[in-house]
Amino acid sequence: MRLNKKIVLITTICAGMVVGQSFAQRHDDDDDKPKNLKVLPKNISGRELHNIMKGYCFSLGVKCNFCHVAEKIEGQEKPKFDFASDNKPEKNITRDMMRMTAAINENYLGKIIGGDHTIEKIACVTCHMGRQTPINSLDSLKRQANTPH
Ligand code: HEC
Ligand code: HEC
Repeated sequence: MRLNKKIVLITTICAGMVVGQSFAQRHDDDDDKPKNLKVLPKNISGRELHNIMKGYCFSLGVKCNFCHVAEKIEGQEKPKFDFASDNKPEKNITRDMMRMTAAINENYLGKIIGGDHTIEKIACVTCHMGRQTPINSLDSLKRQANTPH
């Protein structure tokens, strides 16, 4: 009898924790849900979206505000971001860059048979290599090579 009571108690607590957690999760998801995705899948998880965004920052050597509108708020150190806004041209250029990168991978690299060599896919970093604008001509490559380090 005593054991049964214990089991009932533990089961009730566990069930309560699961229900509580799923409510908390649902609440988070609603708050974070992206509102203006035109290229990425609309049901992408918050974590996945954030990893992609961090990848863009690293690939181009920029911060979030390179593509996203950030508003300075009086008396506050951190700016307020409006991530859904399309008011920065860099964000729309990026959408085209995403489509271009996917097209190169699907239509060209994906169709090359590699022999004994695996054909890797390209990504932003392949061209940008940590720069806002890639080295786009032999002249700029030579200039870069001649710059003392
Ligand atoms: C190189 C440009 C670029 C950088 C840098 C960048 N983003 Fe984005 N971000 C985009 C683009 C483009 C989209 C929209 C993608 C689409 O339409 O599918 C987006 C969408 C988002 C969204 C979804 C907004 C919504 O409601 O639709 C969030 C949140 C976001 N970015 C956060 C970040 C954070 C945080 C950083 C910095 C760590 C960051 N981004 C850096 C280009 C960028
Ligand atoms: C095949 C090469 C290539 C790939 C891959 C590529 N880009 Fe670009 N990107 C370019 C070139 C070339 C330019 C134009 C540079 C210039 O104007 O001199 C550019 C320009 C940009 C710009 C505008 C920069 C500015 O200062 O105005 C953004 C933003 C950008 N790319 C983001 C991305 C992102 C994000 C990805 C990955 C989804 C990506 N690019 C993948 C070649 C590439």
